[in-house]
Amino acid sequence: MLGNFSYHNPTKLYFGDDSLKYLRDELKNYGQNVLLVYGGGSIKKTGLYDEIVGILAECAKNVAEVSGVMPNPTVEKLREGVAVARENKVDFILAVGGGSVCDYSKAVSVSVNCSDDPWDKYYIRFEEPDCEIVPVGCVLTMAGTGSEMNGGAVITNHEAKLKIGHVFGDDVMPKFSILNPRYTMTLPKYQMCAGIYDIMNHICEQYFSGEDDNTSDYISEGLMRGLITASKKAVADPQDYEARSNIMWTATWALNTLVSRGKTTDWMVHMLGQAVGAYTDATHGMTLAAVSLAYYRYIMPYGLKKFARFATQVWGISPGSKSDEQLAKEGLDAMESWMKQIGLVMNIKDLGATEEMIEGIADATLILKGGYKVLDRDEIVNILRQSM
Ligand code: NZQ
Ligand code: ZN
Repeated sequence: MLGNFSYHNPTKLYFGDDSLKYLRDELKNYGQNVLLVYGGGSIKKTGLYDEIVGILAECAKNVAEVSGVMPNPTVEKLREGVAVARENKVDFILAVGGGSVCDYSKAVSVSVNCSDDPWDKYYIRFEEPDCEIVPVGCVLTMAGTGSEMNGGAVITNHEAKLKIGHVFGDDVMPKFSILNPRYTMTLPKYQMCAGIYDIMNHICEQYFSGEDDNTSDYISEGLMRGLITASKKAVADPQDYEARSNIMWTATWALNTLVSRGKTTDWMVHMLGQAVGAYTDATHGMTLAAVSLAYYRYIMPYGLKKFARFATQVWGISPGSKSDEQLAKEGLDAMESWMKQIGLVMNIKDLGATEEMIEGIADATLILKGGYKVLDRDEIVNILRQSM
């Protein structure tokens, strides 16, 4: 049964291959001093950097830059960005890149006017911002995280060996995001596929919880079916605009809070994957792929009916006279075949994890309670061993 909830998403989206033209109009709504944030240089190679800088110049903005935001942005980089933003008294942050750049920009936005250390305040004490937040807008170049329409900001602290996400509220969500599927076409295949699995797993994390008849689950099933179809087309032909646009739009809806309405939600694959990421700095979507099957096969008996439904409604397996257990197994087998077909990394060893790291990764795994089974530490260690 759907309980009580509110739903509101303040991010305005511009989608399509001429969506960048709306940037000028949006920039009019914000102050003169803009912080342009981007990654390791892909936007310079593709020419997007020049286009954006041209638009900022046309709008007579004063522009400061933070470049080199790495995949899995670090707390040291966050502190650097906060210093640049303060020095330049920025009124607006324009993030141009993937989830790392968007997450990072949100983390800067809540820290510029805050006297506490951002890591301690937001990632250890999990406090909410009590300072003025600098507005953020995004131009997305990679589809996967959903960061373009949510409040998530994941930061890695290598010294503490922790990778932690803080999901901020409406005030921190991007004011607008520009989604041009064509920008994603220059992504290396590895990143494209990691993004596809990130999307799939965001939906699974919300789907695999609860036993009620829930509209959110039907929406999730449709999103997953569309994603599977588009992913196969995009892997066969990365220049297939239709497939890439469907992937980009699905990524946004997979994690913009819609399909979590009325759900307790699981998120344990992300907790495991983030802990693996803290130790290996591996690509986010691949960390999820590498732990997923061990985790889902372990919790399957505790959520058997849902796993059987996943098999029939998402993977098209005919129920015939099969037991729920048989169907559930076949569903996960179908997911495994698809994961291999699109070229995902299927174990954490291939991401750099070693036997010696297992205990530490288990310690870095936050245990959440919304899914079908609340894990204990021994179970986490076993799942990680199975994922090797
Ligand atoms: O840095 P550049 O040179 O731009 O290269 C990037 C980077 O190396 C490259 N790239 C991006 N767009 C490109 C491109 N290369 C060529 N052409 C393009 N158009 O791709 C690499 C990966 O980029 P990144 O932004 O790190 O990827 P992603 O979008 O997967 O973001 C990952 C981060 O988001 C967090 C992850 O933990 C990770 O830190 N997440 C954020 C979430 C949220 N906000 O809700 C939820 C997710 O579960 C996730 O945890
Ligand atoms: Zn994710």
